[in-house]
Amino acid sequence: MPEKCFYDISNVKKQDKTEYPDFFAKFYDVLYDKIRTGTDRDYYMKKILECKGKILEVGVGTGRFFKEALEKGADIYGIDVSRSMIDVLRANIPEEHHNRVFVKDVKDMNLGVKFDLIIAPFRVFQHIADTDDQIAALNNIYNHLNKDCYFIFDVFVPNLNILLNDSVDAPVFEGEYEPGKSLKVAIDSRADIINQEMDVTWKLEWNEEGMKISNEWPTRIRYYFRYELENLLRLSKLRLVRVFGDFNEGPLTNESADFVLVCKNDPLKI
Ligand SMILES: C[S@@+](CC[C@H](N)C(=O)[O-])C[C@H]1O[C@@H](n2cnc3c(N)ncnc32)[C@H](O)[C@@H]1O
Repeated sequence: MPEKCFYDISNVKKQDKTEYPDFFAKFYDVLYDKIRTGTDRDYYMKKILECKGKILEVGVGTGRFFKEALEKGADIYGIDVSRSMIDVLRANIPEEHHNRVFVKDVKDMNLGVKFDLIIAPFRVFQHIADTDDQIAALNNIYNHLNKDCYFIFDVFVPNLNILLNDSVDAPVFEGEYEPGKSLKVAIDSRADIINQEMDVTWKLEWNEEGMKISNEWPTRIRYYFRYELENLLRLSKLRLVRVFGDFNEGPLTNESADFVLVCKNDPLKI
């Protein structure tokens, strides 16, 4: 049998490619307010506002939900591995709340406090490449959750058309990031089927002080299939309670675009 048929289970650990560059963090809110907030905002805001205790957002990013949650009185904290994202978030919230957000990796954070709800909205787990790291992150979340409290996260349902067809210069956004200042965003994507990863290159072009600037961010995201997610959670200390197929808590179907996973710190499991 040719050597390439063997998969060496002890092969090198997969490294995350997580660091969001400054130029991407700068435009994150403009971009995702347009292309994501209509899908997941109401769901996560409802969960946040229903919780009367401490909340942690893992991979809080620029604070797409965090800022509004604070304004509405939530006792919310956030961690993110990207300094550039936390810098944008801090600039968006009053200084008295800056000590609610930290640059930390979910895999090894140790905040010394437990929460009544933890959320990781918008594909945070797709940035964690290695299986051992995914389990370490889930177990660390368990360790930060109060008994019988919930952890909610989402990842995309792999779309076979996208996986099988590379894209080049696929348009994502074209508009203004500030009055009179243009922003154009496109992506190249290519699936690495056997590793369940996608190489994605973000291509940004924008206008600043009369100059046209462009930059690219090549990154890699991990995708998950249904039973892998279920098994991953079985291997972790968390108990998977429900998997929804959208942010209205609808069932998972062949048309679902997102897995929305609700897990629990259930001490009876371990
Ligand atoms: C797509 S953004 C989502 C941000 C925010 N939750 C939202 O809904 O807009 C993913 C975020 O996860 C963060 N992230 C990725 N890996 C992480 C890790 N290991 N620990 C903490 N944050 C991580 C990234 O830096 C990024 O800010």
